[in-house]
Amino acid sequence: MRWVFVITLILCVSYASEVSQIFDFWTNLFRPVPRNPKEGFVPDYTPKYLEQFDFIIIGAGSAGCVLANRLTEEHDWKVLLLEAGGNENFFSDVPIFAPFLSLTPLNWGYNSEPEQKACRDLRGNVCFMPRGKVLGGSSVLNFLIYQRGHPEDYNDWARMGNEGWSYSEILPYFKKSENIQINELKNSSYHGRGGYLDIDYASYSSPLQTAFKDAGEELGFEWNDPNGENVIGFSKPQATIRKGRRCSTSKAFLEPVRFRQNLKVSKYSTVLKILIDPYTKKAYGVDFFKGNKRRRVIARREVILSAGTIGSAQILMLSGVGPADHLSEMGIKTLADLPVGYNLQDHVTFSGNAFIVNDSKLCVNDLTAASPLAAAAYLAGRGPLTIPGGATGLAFARTSYAADLSEGRPDMELVMGAGSLAGDLLGILRSLLGVTDKWYWKVYGSLPPEVRQRTFSMNPVLIRPRSVGRLMLRSANFSDHPRIHPNYFHHPDDLRALREGVRLVEKVISTKAFQRFATRIHNVPFPGCEHYKFDSDDYWECAIMQTSITLDHQVGTCKMGPAGDRTAVVSPRLLVHGVQGLRIADASIIPRIPASHTLAPVVMIAEKAADLIKKDWARYPFY
Ligand SMILES: Cc1cc2nc3c(=O)[nH]c(=O)nc-3n(C[C@H](O)[C@H](O)[C@H](O)COP(=O)(O)OP(=O)(O)OC[C@H]3O[C@@H](n4cnc5c(N)ncnc54)[C@H](O)[C@@H]3O)c2cc1C
Ligand SMILES: *[C@@H]1O[C@H](CO)[C@@H](O)[C@H](O)[C@H]1NC(C)=O
Ligand SMILES: *[C@@H]1O[C@H](CO)[C@@H](O)[C@H](O)[C@H]1NC(C)=O
Ligand SMILES: *[C@@H]1O[C@H](CO)[C@@H](O)[C@H](O)[C@H]1NC(C)=O
Repeated sequence: MRWVFVITLILCVSYASEVSQIFDFWTNLFRPVPRNPKEGFVPDYTPKYLEQFDFIIIGAGSAGCVLANRLTEEHDWKVLLLEAGGNENFFSDVPIFAPFLSLTPLNWGYNSEPEQKACRDLRGNVCFMPRGKVLGGSSVLNFLIYQRGHPEDYNDWARMGNEGWSYSEILPYFKKSENIQINELKNSSYHGRGGYLDIDYASYSSPLQTAFKDAGEELGFEWNDPNGENVIGFSKPQATIRKGRRCSTSKAFLEPVRFRQNLKVSKYSTVLKILIDPYTKKAYGVDFFKGNKRRRVIARREVILSAGTIGSAQILMLSGVGPADHLSEMGIKTLADLPVGYNLQDHVTFSGNAFIVNDSKLCVNDLTAASPLAAAAYLAGRGPLTIPGGATGLAFARTSYAADLSEGRPDMELVMGAGSLAGDLLGILRSLLGVTDKWYWKVYGSLPPEVRQRTFSMNPVLIRPRSVGRLMLRSANFSDHPRIHPNYFHHPDDLRALREGVRLVEKVISTKAFQRFATRIHNVPFPGCEHYKFDSDDYWECAIMQTSITLDHQVGTCKMGPAGDRTAVVSPRLLVHGVQGLRIADASIIPRIPASHTLAPVVMIAEKAADLIKKDWARYPFY
């Protein structure tokens, strides 16, 4: 039963993605009704050899789709958008399927190098690092949660010398992109109406959500809008959802403008390098691969790199922009010696715990999600399949490691899942986390299937990590995935803070609100940690290193900072230091990771980047 289901799903998505390369048009038929009239199939365009464009955007991901839309608002700017992947499909639209998309060809399939203190035991200390390879990029693979972070996160960016990036200066861009659908937030001065990106709640709320709210109140937390005045508090997740379906940046920003004459989108186009004149240091074009042919296009004004934290850093280094010592090791001539690949930051979460309740109607696990009833509700935009990545509650709080942060700034997040790893009868979550069947049966096998279905999860997320990683090339060949060293828990406080997060979860679970369902933790110890006393501090530290996974919030490999900052790759106007005509706009420019999920910040960055570009070229209209 389990494998039949998993294999069928994988075949369906693979088929939809593969067919999309051969018969681009047909995959659109996988898209469901009713369709928003603004949505629709993005036509594929193959540029001619040496064809010229004003702007060439690399990567139609979360940021790239926003830029393509905003730059083509200028009618006389001819824009080319290059994307390695193809179209979204019916399955990637279903919010609760999010974890499963990482197993399909919509994922680039990057892995970390073996880690010392994370992802232990599961698969040779290697952490999966999914990234979207599709129009919409990682906004198609992600868990849909829309979260911006704390105002001081951005004031910190400004304090690092990044003029124009303080909270009051970037809030207008969050609002500009947003089309808030949540009634009680429509009048909030923190939210925008009439933007392209729909933000909504899942239309399904489980009784567990009420318990979560009550538990928060019992512990003295307010039930709030964490994108509003106060971040700390308990809340229902806001998500990039349109009528119960995923609202990727492609659906939001690209599809409504797909017929603009000055916008060309070339799909299945893998960029190999940016062409930079070695004497003038000006970026003038892009080499890419499409249909087994190497191709070249020319940029009259700018090349804009939006290939994401991994892609942008890799392409830059392959183009000769990066740390000189590392590039010469790889046999690449250095055109600009910049610290590309350093400053890699990410959020990890401890995701192995399951909490058992005494009523199966409270949780959403495989069997509920796979039922025909749920499928029927989904087609009407409702039901459990609309839960964003399975998350039904968010909480932001402070641990004792937040002492260096001003009041009101959180360093810990809790994400409550409607189901848990224990309820993963079909094996999808297991595959995402990299948990082996052996591990699963050892930990959860003692529970009858009926009990495994009435479990949920509550995962602490380390949102102010102190550890920093690095990304390097493996070779000068684009096909070789880069070497990624996230260094999770390298700083000992990170492990301790996350352990405090586990304790906070225990507090929430022991409230009256959760005890109404006789909620208890499943207390079989994780393999490799049996020698510690269950629930001791040492036990949790061991368990955290054993099963923590990334929330896929990698940022920072092309750090933004002012001229003179030797750790910076791009300026506060997002121009690559020492190179002309080359800008970066995506998660890679983030100097310090916000205490938040990263999609909303990336969309904001792209909105601001578009305005910076418009202003710069209005001032210098000749090229
Ligand atoms: C599984 C998962 C879950 C997540 N959950 C959440 C969440 O719930 N909430 C949240 O806010 N954030 C979440 N995130 C993080 C968030 O989605 C990312 O931070 C954000 O989408 C990154 O945007 P980006 O524009 O930097 O990169 P991307 O969106 O990844 O875009 C990069 C694009 O460039 C393309 N590209 C790369 N290299 C090349 C090349 N050489 N040639 C051509 N094209 C190329 C890629 O195919 C891709 O389309 C999640 C991410 C993942 C993967
Ligand atoms: C929002 O404000 C308008 C005008 O002030 C008012 O008519 C409307 O009822 C308000 N809506 C909500 C949900 O508060
Ligand atoms: C790059 O790597 C791919 C896959 O490993 C290989 O097929 C290709 O020949 C390599 N290219 C070069 C120029 O070595
Ligand atoms: C669940 O447990 C609570 C508290 O022990 C009890 O009051 C309630 O009746 C139980 N519900 C079910 C369905 O067993």
